[in-house]
Amino acid sequence: MSRSVRLVPALAAVLALTGTACDGGVRGTPGGPGVHDPYFPRAGNGGYDVTHYALTLDYTPAGRRLTGRAVITARATQDLTAFDLDLDGLDVGSVTVEGRDARWNRAGQELTVRPHDDLRDGETFTTTVRYSGTPRTLTDPDGSEEGWLATADGALGLGEPVGSMAWFPGNHHPSDKATYDITVTVPDGLQAVSNGELTGRSSKGGRTAYTWHTAQPMASYVATVAVGRYDIGRGTGPHGLPLLTAVDPEQAKASEDVLARIPEILDWEESNFGPYPFSSAGAVVDRPGDVRYALETQTRPVFPGAPDTGTLVHELAHQWYGDSVTPRSWRDMWLNEGFATYAEWLYQEDHGGRSAQQTFTDLYDGDDDAIWDFPPARPSGAAHISGSPVYERGAMVLQKIRQKTGDDTFHDIIQGWAAAHRHGTADTAQFTAYVERKAPDKDFGGIWRDWLYGDGRPGRP
Ligand code: TRP
Ligand code: ZN
Repeated sequence: MSRSVRLVPALAAVLALTGTACDGGVRGTPGGPGVHDPYFPRAGNGGYDVTHYALTLDYTPAGRRLTGRAVITARATQDLTAFDLDLDGLDVGSVTVEGRDARWNRAGQELTVRPHDDLRDGETFTTTVRYSGTPRTLTDPDGSEEGWLATADGALGLGEPVGSMAWFPGNHHPSDKATYDITVTVPDGLQAVSNGELTGRSSKGGRTAYTWHTAQPMASYVATVAVGRYDIGRGTGPHGLPLLTAVDPEQAKASEDVLARIPEILDWEESNFGPYPFSSAGAVVDRPGDVRYALETQTRPVFPGAPDTGTLVHELAHQWYGDSVTPRSWRDMWLNEGFATYAEWLYQEDHGGRSAQQTFTDLYDGDDDAIWDFPPARPSGAAHISGSPVYERGAMVLQKIRQKTGDDTFHDIIQGWAAAHRHGTADTAQFTAYVERKAPDKDFGGIWRDWLYGDGRPGRP
């Protein structure tokens, strides 16, 4: 029987905020409901670091019902009397910590957990949350939809920036990456595709369970689950890298040629960005009406219909810039989008198209003034983290660096940056310091001031 009670919120808050006296000497405090992200202050939680998520999900598209169990392994980074998980919607059935029933309370997206025993700084602990219900589709500050999207024949779980909390409880901020095992059980005839490698598949009583393993750290916003009818394609990329594509049958014909280029694009990206950071790759192609944007979900980006080559290059480049080197906060988004956009420019340059310098000049001289709305490293609000200053002007920052360093050092910089923070997180200040270390004889001050942090269109030098 569960000791978990649905507490009156005010009482629960008091319980969560008050340390106990008879706890064997631990003087802990609650971990806190956010990590002070400048754009999403309640995203993520203080006091612990997740190392692994084991998610066991069961989904039935008819009725849109999800049943889930999340086993979250984390390490306390302070003495803790309580800690939060982020979860938006769904019904929580029970929470245990280290196998003992915990008290819990919900307020908005915060699921506050008060373990039976306080946790000590440095302690590794396991939290199990059982939950169920119809997962929500969330609307971003910029109006795009994420979270759990019902599709024509199933569903898609998408997370950027804060949608993953619609389908599993966790520390939903890019600064806390973890490994994952995701098992999804669906009615026979449907498939469930996720990140990483398929490590198990078993059928029983008309339902099939698919188990996916992500061995390299992953930010929760690039975790995904795709349920539906898919044509599964397997192949190999550079150095025998296993590839797996899942394509909605309606999109199969249109996707065939472009997806066949994944090995060649990865090969080109390896020569520019360094070794591919994960143990598998691929793509998920759904119908354009079911999802309206591409997303760089780790190892297996999602596309709204057959992508063009540029979009495929972009999402695959994100595997280095965004998924492996992950922004420390949502303010550092240009480290994702500026790099992935620059990858498109560079790919064109290397494949008989415009040079990156020409693309830069066209944008600089063009009449798309939205590029100058705000500085790439300081988006003007949560609604603008995917605005054109982050993408295009972010890429222009890289071209400015290349102008200053020349091609060889520039290549060292973008490749070295991916290596220096491989499987980690990084922020803009670390990037500018890194560039300065790589080219100590050059002065980048004007680029940072005018192009990265400055308002408006920088003047000609
Ligand atoms: N990151 C995606 C890309 O450029 C775009 C995107 C999809 C996005 N959803 C988002 C960006 C939500 C910011 C917020 O490949
Ligand atoms: Zn992108």
